[in-house]
Amino acid sequence: MSLVCLRDVTRTVTLPDGEDLHILRGVNLDVAEGEHVSIVGRSGTGKSTMLNIIGLLDAPTSGIYELDGVDTTRLGEGRRARMRGEDFGFVFQQFNIFSARTAAENVEVPLLYAPGPQLLRRRSIALDMLERVGLADRADSYPGEMSGGEQQRIAIARALVRRPRVILADEPTGALDPDTGRVVMALLEEVARESNAALIVITHDMAVAARAQRAYELYDGTLHEVEDASALTHRAEAGHSGDEAGARNAMPEPPPAPADDEGARSGEGVRTDEGTGTHEDEQASDPATPREVEQ
Ligand SMILES: Nc1ncnc2c1ncn2[C@@H]1O[C@H](COP(=O)(O)OP(=O)(O)OP(=O)(O)O)[C@@H](O)[C@H]1O
Ligand SMILES: [Mg+2]
Repeated sequence: MSLVCLRDVTRTVTLPDGEDLHILRGVNLDVAEGEHVSIVGRSGTGKSTMLNIIGLLDAPTSGIYELDGVDTTRLGEGRRARMRGEDFGFVFQQFNIFSARTAAENVEVPLLYAPGPQLLRRRSIALDMLERVGLADRADSYPGEMSGGEQQRIAIARALVRRPRVILADEPTGALDPDTGRVVMALLEEVARESNAALIVITHDMAVAARAQRAYELYDGTLHEVEDASALTHRAEAGHSGDEAGARNAMPEPPPAPADDEGARSGEGVRTDEGTGTHEDEQASDPATPREVEQ
């Protein structure tokens, strides 16, 4: 049985002018434990919308979403929030870590909402996790003193510290140079493999997409499996092929300046990890709040 199972999932939002926007029109997806799946697609095709549904940040308008056989659409918000914290780890393009907290303190945050033993041992669990991502000696450093790749490793440590069953990464390498991106992806894959977690990665980078066991492209509101994921790297090297299918499949445009948009979604992820918001959480989840202001 698949861990993540979407059947004919749709998501429609009503725009201020009263028009319905059909973002997802019938998404089907099965991801098993330990599987690594990537999703590509042009900007605005609904990738983040889909990931937010999978991460229980949003609900489908119609269709079925089962997590390990449990129909999530029938659950109350309390149970959904618990599952978000326990079963999912989120990694985002803009890292979304707290600038006023050290690396170790950032990784501890999800454990503040964990059951007693984990709560009590949060420091040593966080330090173990930091060691796992190669940052043992930076535990007391603040994000501002660290490189983008290091900050993303903190975000990965934080996402994985509660051993989630599903890791959701939305453009995890989007803010990194290609070499650092490769290192971060290799790490993400390795830690996912260790805990047999499902790894679902949204990316605009075909080389990143090709690392997965299966790749999908999202267009016209539905997912289309890319038959030969390794062909994605060739596309990335070759660029646009010119014909309609080729153009659709070629590397999508990079996302527009993501500050507000990604900040909002990332904030949701952080809030998810942390349960109900504290004052600091509110600041982190407020896309209008620059990180510096957290101090
Ligand atoms: N709550 C909402 N209200 C109105 N429109 C929305 C809402 N959520 C998403 N959209 C629109 O739905 C479309 C899909 O958005 P989404 O963020 O899922 O795209 P994406 O594929 O992740 O894009 P990108 O690659 O730029 O991150 C966009 O046109 C977006 O503006
Ligand atoms: Mg997106």
